[in-house]
Order: sequence, then C-alpha cells, then structure tokens
Amino acid sequence: MSAWLNRVHCEDALHGFARIPDGTIDLIIADPPYGLGKDYGNDSDKLEAAAYLRWTEQWIDAALPKLKPNGSLYIFLTWRYSPEIFVMLKQRMTMINEIVWDRRVPSMGGSTRRFSSVHDTIGFFAKARDYHFDLDAVRIPYDAETKKARSRSIFVGAKWLELGYNPKDVWSVSRLHREHRERADHPTQKPLEIIERMVKASCPPDGVVLDPFMGSGTTAVAARRCGRNFVGFELNPEYCELIETRLMALDKPEEAA
Ligand SMILES: C[S@@+](CC[C@H](N)C(=O)[O-])C[C@H]1O[C@@H](n2cnc3c(N)ncnc32)[C@H](O)[C@@H]1O
Repeated sequence: MSAWLNRVHCEDALHGFARIPDGTIDLIIADPPYGLGKDYGNDSDKLEAAAYLRWTEQWIDAALPKLKPNGSLYIFLTWRYSPEIFVMLKQRMTMINEIVWDRRVPSMGGSTRRFSSVHDTIGFFAKARDYHFDLDAVRIPYDAETKKARSRSIFVGAKWLELGYNPKDVWSVSRLHREHRERADHPTQKPLEIIERMVKASCPPDGVVLDPFMGSGTTAVAARRCGRNFVGFELNPEYCELIETRLMALDKPEEAA
C-alpha cells in the first residue's frame, strides 16, 4: 500500500499535497477554516478577507490535480465567502449542487440587527460530466406510514417507493451538542451522518477520499466505516492525536463514534 494512504499527516496541507500523486483521489471533502477567526490552536482562521481568499485559491489549485478525471469535491463554507469561492471553483469545475446544511439550531435570542444564520453552505463540484454518483447508496427509506399511504395501484412496484427518496439539497441534521456521543474536543466537528452521505454517494467502494483540513478526523472515521481509503492533513498536533484515538476506537466497536 502507498505510504501516503490511510494516514493523517500532521502538517500544512499546502506542503502535504506533494505527497499525493496526481489523479489518484476519488473525492475531496474540504472543511477549511471559514475566515471567521475561530480558534484551532493556531492562526489558520485569522486571515483578513483578501489574504483568506488568496490562500483559498492557492490550496484549491494544489488540491484539484489530485482528483481522478471522474472525481468530485464538497466544500463547507458559510454565506460570508461562499459567493467568491463558488466563482473560483466554477472557473475550474462544474457546479453540481449548493447544499444547505441546516444545523437545527434551537430558537433563542440570537442576532438583533440581522437574521440569525443557522446553516452552512456546502458546494458540490465535479471535474467532468461522468462524475461518480451513487444515489441509491444514500436514498432515505420511507417510513411504513408513508409507504402505506402511497399503496394505491399507481404507486405499486414503484422503484423509488421501495428504495427511498433522494435526500434533496437541504440537509437537516443537528450539529453535535457537547453531550452527543459522537462529540470530540474540536470546535467545528461535523456529524458523521453528513460526511458519510458524501462518501457513499461520491466515492466508490475501495476508493480514496482526501480531506486537507481533518480537524477531529470525521472524514477518516467516515471513510473507514464505509470501506473507503482516506488521506488528510491537520496542522494542530493535538487534533492529530485525537484523530488517531477516534480511528483506534473503530477497532473497538462498543466505543466507535
Ligand atoms: C473547520 S475545521 C475541520 C473540522 C473537521 N471537518 C471535523 O469534522 O472535525 C478546519 C481544521 O483545519 C485545520 N487547518 C487549518 N489550516 C490548515 C492547513 N493549512 N493545513 C492543514 N490543516 C489546517 C485547523 O487546525 C482545523 O482543525
């Protein structure tokens, strides 16, 4: 097996990309710093707007050659920079979807000079028209009541009723509360439900997922749980340790997040 594969390299992604041969990656899942000043134990989220966008363009140009010709990319953003970054990506790839992740934030006080923002904007881009996409792997089953309600003869035997429905482009999945069993010590950890949907839909079994900004390692955990390979980078050594712990827990099913 290649030395770079199924490892999280504890280093700057901009240096790390050189480890990965071009054209070897099926799927990139990128959850970069948002440019909002979050504390990841480093200064990576403290760039001012122009520098942040220059840095974004730099890592995008280093990452995209790693994709296979039918590969694709998901990128987590917020409304602040998604317009600029979507334009950047549209100059290089085909935009397939804008997905809204509704974090199911409870209604409390919130902002008083604007509407409270409670979603992440996720861009889904493909390198070519024949990009890999397995909808059947991520369909959502209908509950028994809905199936019964649709049991009229026109629906009987309908493939979609048996297989479940398309998850659509608004994903309503709760963010991870402090008490959540999946929760690790990282400020912007993503739920496995979201990352696993991306992996199952857009990376073939045994394929390779690249995550340049691993954080708590959700992509690595999701890839392992779904029978895919992974490679990734993370600047903060404490998060690198956290990722190893999460991966080791997968070998002890009773602890696996
Ligand atoms: C938004 S978080 C990722 C969260 C992750 N998706 C999860 O579920 O835990 C971004 C991460 O990127 C890391 N980071 C920032 N700049 C980096 C760089 N140049 N190379 C590698 N990692 C970087 C930060 O330390 C932070 O942990």
